[in-house]
Amino acid sequence: MLRTTLTERFSLEAPIIGAPMAGPGGAALASAVSSAGGLGMIGAGSAAEPRWIADAAADVRNATDRFGIGLMAWNLEHRPDQLDAAIAAGPVLVSVSFGDYRPAVDPLHQAGIAIATQVGDVAGARAALDDGIDVIVARGGEGGGHGDDRVATLPLLQGVLDAVGGEAIVLAAGGIATARGLAAVLAAGADGAWIGTAFLASSEALTPPAARRRLLDATELDTRSTRVFDVAQGIPWPPEYRGRALVNAFADRWHGREDELAGAPDEGARVARAREAGDYDTAFIYAGQGVGSLSQERAADEVVIEMTEGAEALLRRW
Ligand SMILES: Cc1cc2nc3c(=O)[nH]c(=O)nc-3n(C[C@H](O)[C@H](O)[C@H](O)COP(=O)(O)O)c2cc1C
Repeated sequence: MLRTTLTERFSLEAPIIGAPMAGPGGAALASAVSSAGGLGMIGAGSAAEPRWIADAAADVRNATDRFGIGLMAWNLEHRPDQLDAAIAAGPVLVSVSFGDYRPAVDPLHQAGIAIATQVGDVAGARAALDDGIDVIVARGGEGGGHGDDRVATLPLLQGVLDAVGGEAIVLAAGGIATARGLAAVLAAGADGAWIGTAFLASSEALTPPAARRRLLDATELDTRSTRVFDVAQGIPWPPEYRGRALVNAFADRWHGREDELAGAPDEGARVARAREAGDYDTAFIYAGQGVGSLSQERAADEVVIEMTEGAEALLRRW
């Protein structure tokens, strides 16, 4: 069994956190990852209502009390009710990423809940340590969905471990999609991996069938970090956090022309209609470069078990 400070702290059997993924990452995926020995997280979108958070947490609790909830820091300024709802739901971990997480630290700690944040540079990791963050996620630019994409996972992880390793739980994120990736980051000294894309094609993810097919067909070359979908939909993500998504006709057309896109409100409606219709030439599918390793739909517990057993076998070779 792979034991680290992460598995000890949260009583896990696998050093894997199922990254919060607003959209595909609901209660079913979180339950499945936790039931397999990892820590599953519910991904709350920027528009998620407190009721949605409470209901998702209640659903997970039918299977396990061990779960986390992911929130977006930039959103909490306008939506403090999301933090209240997350605390009331009683998870073991809340992640507050992408923006100023500091106002969330004391309320979470007072409720006995650990706090994680995703960092994109070494200075961010040092600040997170000083601010009392329990789980620091070195999240490289090859990761799926939103994040700071300036530094790739390995250079970031090495710097973050040198700076704060041993003082907080340090996880690696971005592009870890198989046992080999998990073994690599554990060998480097990470306490575990924070994994999103590898679960996108699992049966428990709320990934629509047409999107699932595209994910399974995609190679490692088929993603791009872009703001076009946020700009089109008018979602106020801070511009330094782009979203890595599968390339499609819409992104090809507008990437690099975001200012023009911001003045074209019909495009937002087009994206909304395309999402309804399952038209992924226009609608987005957020995914990281690890998407190239997805070849078939599998249950999330199989993904967790194959990764941990495979990583253990690889590490034993040494
Ligand atoms: C579809 C999708 C949705 C995501 N949604 C969130 C989210 O709601 N909150 C969050 O903190 N991170 C979110 N992320 C980013 C993940 O937390 C994590 O950084 C990323 O998945 C790690 O890289 P990987 O996809 O290569 O495993 C999302 C990622 C994906 C792929």
